[in-house]
Amino acid sequence: MSATAPTPGLPTERDAGPFAPPRAISRMREARPVSPLRFPDGHEGWLVTGHEEARRLLADNRFSSRQDLGILHVPYETPGMPVPTAPSPQVPGLFIAMDPPDHTRLRRKLTGAFTVRRMRSLEAHLADLVERQLDALARLTPPVDLVAEFALPVPSLVICELLGVPYEDRGTFQANSARFMLKEVSLEEKMAAYGALTGYLAELVTRKRAAPGDDLLSDLARDGDLTVEELTGVAFLLLLAGHETTANMLGLGTFALLENPGQLAAVRADPELLPGAVEELLRYLSVADLFYRYATEDIELGGVTVPAGSTVVVSLLAADRDPRRFAEPDTLDLHRNARGHLAFGHGVHQCLGQQLARIEMRAALGGLLRRFPDLALAVPAAEVPLRTDMTVYGVHALPVTWTETARR
Ligand code: HEM
Repeated sequence: MSATAPTPGLPTERDAGPFAPPRAISRMREARPVSPLRFPDGHEGWLVTGHEEARRLLADNRFSSRQDLGILHVPYETPGMPVPTAPSPQVPGLFIAMDPPDHTRLRRKLTGAFTVRRMRSLEAHLADLVERQLDALARLTPPVDLVAEFALPVPSLVICELLGVPYEDRGTFQANSARFMLKEVSLEEKMAAYGALTGYLAELVTRKRAAPGDDLLSDLARDGDLTVEELTGVAFLLLLAGHETTANMLGLGTFALLENPGQLAAVRADPELLPGAVEELLRYLSVADLFYRYATEDIELGGVTVPAGSTVVVSLLAADRDPRRFAEPDTLDLHRNARGHLAFGHGVHQCLGQQLARIEMRAALGGLLRRFPDLALAVPAAEVPLRTDMTVYGVHALPVTWTETARR
């Protein structure tokens, strides 16, 4: 292949181990941090893998985020999903897939609810919620699937409580959100899952508008400036973004620690290391990896001109493993300063829930390591089922075992 020929397809096979980017993606980053890419449907676009180039892309609003269904829209992986030829119409409330000023108007209504101070005030309550989950876990007889029994319930409980979504309804929303996150699902199935979830949420926000309670969705429902469709879109985005990502960080993060016993021992020995460890795990794993943008004009990026109309995919995982930004990037080093990683994105769309996610991860990982001092994998590492089929990476299940537990 010549130096300029587009690479066919987006490599997804984790052939360099469960935590590293696909080898082909790393090679592309070394050769050309902004590479042409041919998608399976024949459409040509660009893949950004360098840290500096990814940062620039995410900071530049000429790269539009407007796409049908935003995070659900993986045009080259969802059979039947049309390739965007222009910025798409917007789904009300789904501000992750909007550009300023529409994005700004909605995001502003939420920033107050997610400030560092607001999140800190939740910390004690969150620690208690985690301990109760750990009590339940300790009562089970190992081997146990840590994803089903801990990594998924903790963020689901937290986001339900924050938004005012009844946790008893999780069966519906977890199954439906898992369906959109599947890459190889048909457009019809994806839309059916989307319809079921937004139908449920539309009813919920309508009830909250009539009789608001003490939760985030009720606060938003009191704001007469927002339509029911917008409230539904916001609820959908927060519910989905609020549990899938953190759950996968907890599942895959625990797996990564168990596979790096020296690092695990270091964080067990010194709980002060935990905040830095969470930051490094975020960098090392970057579970929300691929994001799509659309060039609204010709834009210079990393020495190439990305022509107007191009679809641009950014790999945050590749960027966070860029040796030009992080020394020995493929080593999990809980003592390093991992700040500047792009696991939460960058620019106007940078993760709204990042402080919440950090607090959840510290409480959950810290509690898990303390209460289960000899936690171990219950199967060989090669048998842990990886989520290469999902848009947010992680593990489908993490069978673990232990012989002793510590008290609260
Ligand atoms: C946006 C990652 C947890 C809510 C993003 C983006 C990333 C990300 C990379 C940027 C998307 C883009 O540029 O298009 C993560 C990771 C998490 C996490 C790795 C867990 C470890 C959460 C939580 C919440 C949340 C707990 C909610 C409570 C959001 C929202 C956006 C967002 C609403 C859209 C922001 C905007 O468009 O302005 N997240 N996230 N995330 N995240 Fe998170």
